[in-house]
Amino acid sequence: MQVLLALVSFALSVARAGAVPAPRQLSGLNDLFVAKGKLFWGNIGDSNTLSISSNTEVLTSEFGALTPENSMKWESIEPTQGSFSFTGADALVDFANSNCLMVRGHTLVWHSQLPAYVSAISDAATLTSVIQSHIAGVAGRYAGQFYGHEVLNEDGTLRSSVFSNVLGDSFIATAFEAARAADSTAKLYINDFNLDSNNAKVQAMVALVKKVNSGTQLIDGIGTQTHLSAGGSSGVADAITTLASTGLEVAITELDIASAPTADYVAVAQACLDEPRCVSITSWGVSDANSWRASETPLLFDSSFAPKDAYDALVSLLL
Ligand code: G3I
Repeated sequence: MQVLLALVSFALSVARAGAVPAPRQLSGLNDLFVAKGKLFWGNIGDSNTLSISSNTEVLTSEFGALTPENSMKWESIEPTQGSFSFTGADALVDFANSNCLMVRGHTLVWHSQLPAYVSAISDAATLTSVIQSHIAGVAGRYAGQFYGHEVLNEDGTLRSSVFSNVLGDSFIATAFEAARAADSTAKLYINDFNLDSNNAKVQAMVALVKKVNSGTQLIDGIGTQTHLSAGGSSGVADAITTLASTGLEVAITELDIASAPTADYVAVAQACLDEPRCVSITSWGVSDANSWRASETPLLFDSSFAPKDAYDALVSLLL
């Protein structure tokens, strides 16, 4: 009986040993991407995630740039008109500086996460001046320190917002001019979602940036957010080629893909590798635990911060 028990226990431990995967080695995704001629593979952060040590360990070993997830949005950074609250944004910039990460500012003008005082403005001159002061305050504070600013977010087709409703499309030039005046070195991006195939929105974006840039070049780059569903990568290469036909930089700015399929992650990375004007990729979160789409498990690291198959496949692609 004792022998039998011992055998059973041996069999169990063998089965357990076989079931536990060997710890995977991290390989420095950003370093591999940079070695292919790209600027960075970045990620996002803010005080809530920068205080999690397993998150920052992966962040600093795997990624080369930081975008603030929420702390530089209007409601966070200028919640009351003329009164800036830089605590969260400064914490992110300090973390980036301490860890040699570039920063993308996100986002100077967006229809969402706006304080009520902005949404309530109906007078064009007032709104213009409020936009200018906001951008001077935010971009001015970090002038010379950022790789780039996302000046506009999700407005490629002029969605209805206080900005487009009161000012028409003139607010776009106003915003980019204010950002250029506040920070002459940052790359200025327009950043939008649903630019994931060569669709009507991609065509509208190309037409918009050509129009805005027809006199002086105000827009330096187009950000494509790239929040994909599983299997949604098939049109990404074509869309990036079309966006790059403007002659501007292109960046994948908020990458996450439902259930993190290997094939989709590889296709997106390959699309950027194949287009010389595609300068960077930013993943929208490190671990599924902190993703805005947590239930869809879209990131490269699971909720225990372990790398997924898609991570390994990207490393193989980039080696
Ligand atoms: O800060 C409050 C906290 O005080 C409160 O207790 C809590 C209760 O729900 O909410 C907290 O605010 C949340 C905020 O994130 C900060 O965590 C908001 O509810 C939540 O809606 C907000 O979500 C953000 C979302 O933008 C808002 O649209 C996500 O974190 C952020 O990942 C997401 O990112 C956007 C990009 O900026 C632009 N592109 C689309 C992308 C997804 O919407």
